[in-house]
Amino acid sequence: MIITGKYPELRLRRTRQYDWSRRLVKENSLSANDLVQPIFLVDGKNKKIPVKSMPNVFRYSIDRISQEVDKSVSNKIPMISLFPFTNHKLKNNLGTEALNENNLVCKAIKLIKKRYKNSIGIMCDVALDPYTSHGHDGIINENKILNDETVEILIKQSLLQAEMGCDVIAPSDMMDGRIGKIRKALDKNNFKDVQILSYAIKYASNFYGPFRDAVGSKKNLKGDKKTYQMDYNNHSEAIREVALDIKEGADMVMVKPGMPYLDIIKEVKENFKLPVLAYQVSGEYSIISNAINKKLINRDAIIEILTAFKRAGASAIITYFANQIAKDLK
Ligand code: PBG
Repeated sequence: MIITGKYPELRLRRTRQYDWSRRLVKENSLSANDLVQPIFLVDGKNKKIPVKSMPNVFRYSIDRISQEVDKSVSNKIPMISLFPFTNHKLKNNLGTEALNENNLVCKAIKLIKKRYKNSIGIMCDVALDPYTSHGHDGIINENKILNDETVEILIKQSLLQAEMGCDVIAPSDMMDGRIGKIRKALDKNNFKDVQILSYAIKYASNFYGPFRDAVGSKKNLKGDKKTYQMDYNNHSEAIREVALDIKEGADMVMVKPGMPYLDIIKEVKENFKLPVLAYQVSGEYSIISNAINKKLINRDAIIEILTAFKRAGASAIITYFANQIAKDLK
């Protein structure tokens, strides 16, 4: 404990008196550099389709993604994250569309890399749920999500994304052992500079609903994801997950969801001193957006919440508010 003095000589309100002195002692300052913008992709031409459960969020056809990427680049947002809404006809038990080099994600990576070079980073989820007919992140046998068999497919998905030009591979599937195997495969195939952002701590959460709607896996999903995503009662287990992934070669780790897990972000940062990203997920986004739209809270609440992630120790936040809020941060 640091002893700072006592009242009445000490008055903490002195430094709060003026805007300039509040700025002077400010400990955290959110900027566009702290944000990652997710983009949903959809088949077709000239499409911009609203996601019903997420106000102001759209699915873009490839020919229109520049609209979002332009905004991110000009706002100095360092990275975007791509998520596909896959046509139901292309989904099957094994999620084979994940390995199609002409799938939406592959086409988007190629276009963005060509047009924007390295002015913005591209991050892609590695998991099968946008592509499987059952909506799970892995393949299934007799109601069981198979770990090792799934990892073999995820390796191929990672290599394909790397080949297209993806900068940051982000396994979000929660299978055991996948970070090490993906790292080895990337290195062996000359992708030693491709980064891995592990969704090391992903809780089986009730806050993913609107996202599953956005990628069209909501109606497909049978059961829940509790046999692979983490139990939200647990804390020590989160530390073990991160320790393992660091050993296996993760460059950065993610904590997901965001706001209900600030304790975990802080703990991981303090223990491991590596870049920790927070994911403010779809359910959090929709709750806040709806409350703003109903005028229950004002828009500055977005910055307040995003700053909380910084205070907890996050290096960056994946948020559907990124492009909407970046201008206000200038
Ligand atoms: C899929 C994935 C999910 C999210 C990101 N990647 C959903 C899930 O695990 O069911 C959720 C993101 C959000 O809710 O914003 N592996």
